[in-house]
Amino acid sequence: MSRLSRHGVTSKLVTLLSPHSAGVEAYRLLRTNLRYASVDKPLRSLAVTSALAEEGKSLTAANLAISAAQAGVRTLLVDADLRKPAVHKLFAVPGHTGLTAVLVGLQKMEDAIQPTQVDNLWLLVAGDKPPNPAEILQSESMASLHRRLTGEFDFVVYDCPPVLPAVEAVDIGALADGALVVVRAETTPKDAVQQALSQLAHGHVAMLGAVLNGVRAGSGYGYNYYSYGYGNA
Ligand SMILES: Nc1ncnc2c1ncn2[C@@H]1O[C@H](COP(=O)(O)OP(=O)(O)OP(=O)(O)O)[C@@H](O)[C@H]1O
Ligand SMILES: [Mg+2]
Repeated sequence: MSRLSRHGVTSKLVTLLSPHSAGVEAYRLLRTNLRYASVDKPLRSLAVTSALAEEGKSLTAANLAISAAQAGVRTLLVDADLRKPAVHKLFAVPGHTGLTAVLVGLQKMEDAIQPTQVDNLWLLVAGDKPPNPAEILQSESMASLHRRLTGEFDFVVYDCPPVLPAVEAVDIGALADGALVVVRAETTPKDAVQQALSQLAHGHVAMLGAVLNGVRAGSGYGYNYYSYGYGNA
């Protein structure tokens, strides 16, 4: 169970809670570097994924979205992990209605999007778990929602499931401008990362960069370090 701060959000959203920490600087740098990963056209949307479970995708997606919003960019964070949704927990907001309800036509997009305590940041949580997460995210309804979301917001961040145990991240990455791949330092087997990258490439997903998560900084605690350079689109 994550600890809740006095803001209601989980204490792991460093960008919101400790604006001067080293972690926050890392997310700012990540955002800056992402601009270089998409030189020809401004980056409007991306899928945050990883090879395997529990590598730090949701935390990276949330902190990156907060960082963009804090810089004045109208940002939407979408929980596209319908199997293990996390965004509603991180922001301590209701999780029942969200993406799935919009995709099956039970709720309007504008009613499902929730504001947050961060200026310029909105959330579309996952909502109730569907029996067929892959099918629902591969639908024409999802493609059309993506077009509407990118029309409404300047930056759309999708928190996705991992690539190897699920197929959806490839579909979302292909809809979006590309993927950002989180790798848990010293934990994720190299083969798994390679396999995930090859599945993303096979699905024609532009590789925007990688986050090596959990690197020990000089100050002694783990945070995100961004590196880019392989397979830039
Ligand atoms: N840099 C970090 N420092 C400390 N804890 C971290 C860090 N990154 C992730 N964690 C912790 O690891 C766990 C998994 O993180 P997170 O939920 O962001 O990963 P995920 O890849 O989205 O997982 P899942 O595959 O379940 O969706 C959480 O308990 C999170 O708080
Ligand atoms: Mg997650």
